[in-house]
Amino acid sequence: MNESMKTILERRSIRQYKPEHVSSEELDYILQAGVYAPTSSNHQDTKFVIVRKPELLAKISRMNAAVNGAAGDPFYGAPDLIIVFADSNLPNWKQDGALAMGNMMNMAKAQGIGSCWINRAYEVFETEEGRALAREWGLPESYKGVGNMILGYPDCEDPKPSERKPDRFYFAE
Ligand SMILES: Cc1cc2nc3c(=O)[nH]c(=O)nc-3n(C[C@H](O)[C@H](O)[C@H](O)COP(=O)(O)O)c2cc1C
Repeated sequence: MNESMKTILERRSIRQYKPEHVSSEELDYILQAGVYAPTSSNHQDTKFVIVRKPELLAKISRMNAAVNGAAGDPFYGAPDLIIVFADSNLPNWKQDGALAMGNMMNMAKAQGIGSCWINRAYEVFETEEGRALAREWGLPESYKGVGNMILGYPDCEDPKPSERKPDRFYFAE
């Protein structure tokens, strides 16, 4: 089977991780996959915040749990995190950000790295604490959170390719 197809079919959301950080070479490939994702009118408005420091990652995890009103670690103990932001002044900012997330998750899988999209990037970075962090990272006010991508080496069996609902194609004539 074509390698790209194999990657797409076999990528699964991973929720159990080893503590080691992904290597900088592997991380670089993942980020390249993010910046090479198409963007509307080629605005290239996506920005990527890479969080590798355990204390900062734990803080963002707590902020994420807080907006969800939940206890526990929504990042499943993953050692690394990429937060995708995009420019909400543009009409397609969410689409641009989501496509970068998809490219990066597939590139992670292609290198044997696990990942999962974790929700609530928007809500977290609309809080006062979240906006303060975004400012610290040099993000303009119009940049809003699209998605959190946790990543790391899986500490679980390779999940089976997931079942997909049937009857989702209609070949229009
Ligand atoms: C927009 C979006 C938000 C998601 N949010 C979460 C989340 O907050 N927590 C989580 O564990 N998984 C989250 N996921 C992962 C989905 O649950 C997962 O992709 C889906 O169950 C299909 O499984 P698969 O990725 O293994 O194919 C999210 C996925 C997407 C696309």
